[in-house]
This record gives sequence, structure tokens and C-alpha cells, in this order.
Amino acid sequence: MAAERKVTTLDVRRRKGRDKLAVVTAYDATMAALLDAAGMDILMVGDSLGMVVQGDDTTLGVTLEDMVYHCRAVTSCQPRAHVVCDLPFMSYQIGPEQALASAGVLLKKGRAEAVKLEGGLHLAPTVRRLVEAGIPVMGHIGLTPQSVHQMGGFRVQGRTQAQALELIEDAQALEQAGAYAIVLEGIPSQAAQAITSQIGIPTIGIGAGPDTDGQVLVCYDLLGMYRGLAPKFVRHFAELGDAVVRAAEAYAVEVRAGTFPGPEHAFSMERGESPPPPTPVSPTYGEPPADS
Ligand code: KIV
Repeated sequence: MAAERKVTTLDVRRRKGRDKLAVVTAYDATMAALLDAAGMDILMVGDSLGMVVQGDDTTLGVTLEDMVYHCRAVTSCQPRAHVVCDLPFMSYQIGPEQALASAGVLLKKGRAEAVKLEGGLHLAPTVRRLVEAGIPVMGHIGLTPQSVHQMGGFRVQGRTQAQALELIEDAQALEQAGAYAIVLEGIPSQAAQAITSQIGIPTIGIGAGPDTDGQVLVCYDLLGMYRGLAPKFVRHFAELGDAVVRAAEAYAVEVRAGTFPGPEHAFSMERGESPPPPTPVSPTYGEPPADS
């Protein structure tokens, strides 16, 4: 049974090596409230929204304004879960000062409680700058979708020992710079296990095997609402996509048959009021306007 108290970055850190963190993405208030009611530890306002909400092939087009909009929607339901929001592509890569300004906007306008950024060692000065300013930072290494073109596609990273060692270095640099948790995406289980055992902050895996301190999934994947090709690590815990189609089909049938709305869904005029008198129907009523 989930506690009612707000989950904080301190709670997240304390979970290292203990009970695993359940993390899921959320992009709007309705879904956030439902996921929060399920007792999630962290709601992640991911820039994956560029793909699953905006319909793009990558996350690169997502703007800071998009992230503010969605983060504000998620935080508006005042979730018990901790809320972390992605810094989108090119809102932090120019340098620590740009990152600080962008992260400030996510906290002030989006009401995020922490920010997440993609990258390792080279971003340590940026992480340090944000943390010194009081902004909690979650790292994200391995398959980093904002580098899709550099990686040559959404490809598993760290498959060789040398690459896995680099990932460990990245994770340690992020920890030393003050990050409170790190997402490990699309890396071999052995690499994730090695990273998790060599840092003192929680790792949150997605496509990184079972040996991390927590797991994250995109909410539409978890719920079976995304019907395109799914990566190997995705599991549908429900088939809500099919349920949505069936419900919408049933609605359309009833609308067309005139059985919805029924009297129980309709309003009446005030007692004693008469309906407006009928007016003659124009012979062209319902015809498309003629071209002029
Ligand atoms: O953008 C996102 O949703 C993410 C998670 C899937 C880790 O980065």
C-alpha cells in the first residue's frame, strides 16, 4: 500500500539497493492521476512525447515550451509521485548556463521537481551547475534518443567491454557531479548490473535488464495503447489500445442508430417553458454551399 506523503529526491536516493522504484512516463493530467493512484514512485515527463503524443519519428523536435506544457499538466493533478521532466534537445547542450536557464523554466513554469538530461562524462560540469543552483538532476546514459543520428538509429549501446567500461565512467562522473539517479537505457543486462553495483545512486532501467534499482516504461507501451512496432523490452500489462477501438466503435454504432444519447443523458427546459416554435426548413438545408 503506497504512502500518502509526497515522494522526494531523498526517498528516491534511499531506495538504492532496496525496494525497486516503479517509474512510468506521463504527459497529461488525466493519465498522471491514474498512474499516481496506482502508487508510482516517479512520473517522468519524457521527451518521448515527441514520438508518442506528437507523432514524430524522433524526440528532436520537442521544445522547452512543449515540455513546460506537458509537465504543468502532469503536476496540476498534484501527484504523490516525484515528478521529473526531460530537458529537450538543444535546451542544455550549448553549456551549463543554457541548461540552468532551461531547467529553471521547467521548475518555475512546469512545476517539475527535477530535470533529466542525456549524456555522461562531458555533461558533468552542467550537472554540477544545476545541482549547485538547487535543481536535482537525473542522468540518462546508454541509448540516448536525442543522439539518434549519431548512434545510427535507436541501437543498443555498450555491447563491448570497452564500451561498458565507458558507461561505468559516465555513471560515476554523473554521480560525482551530484546527480540523484540515472536512467540506463538500451544496454546489456551485464553492463547495467556492473554500473548499478559501482555507483551509490539508484539506476532506473529501460531495456537494461532486471539488475537495476528501478524500471521505467512509456505509459502507452505499458498499457498496450501504442500499436506500432515495439522494442524487445516493452511489455503490455493491458491491451487498452484494443479496448479504446472497441469502445469507439460501440459509440459510433449507437450515435448512428440514434440510441445515444438516451433520455437519461439529455436536459429538459425549465418547468412551464415551451420549446421554440418550429420554423420552416429551407430546401437547401444540409446541402454543401454552392461554389460562387
Ligand atoms: O523520454 C522518455 O520518456 C525517457 C524514458 C523512456 C526513459 O527518457
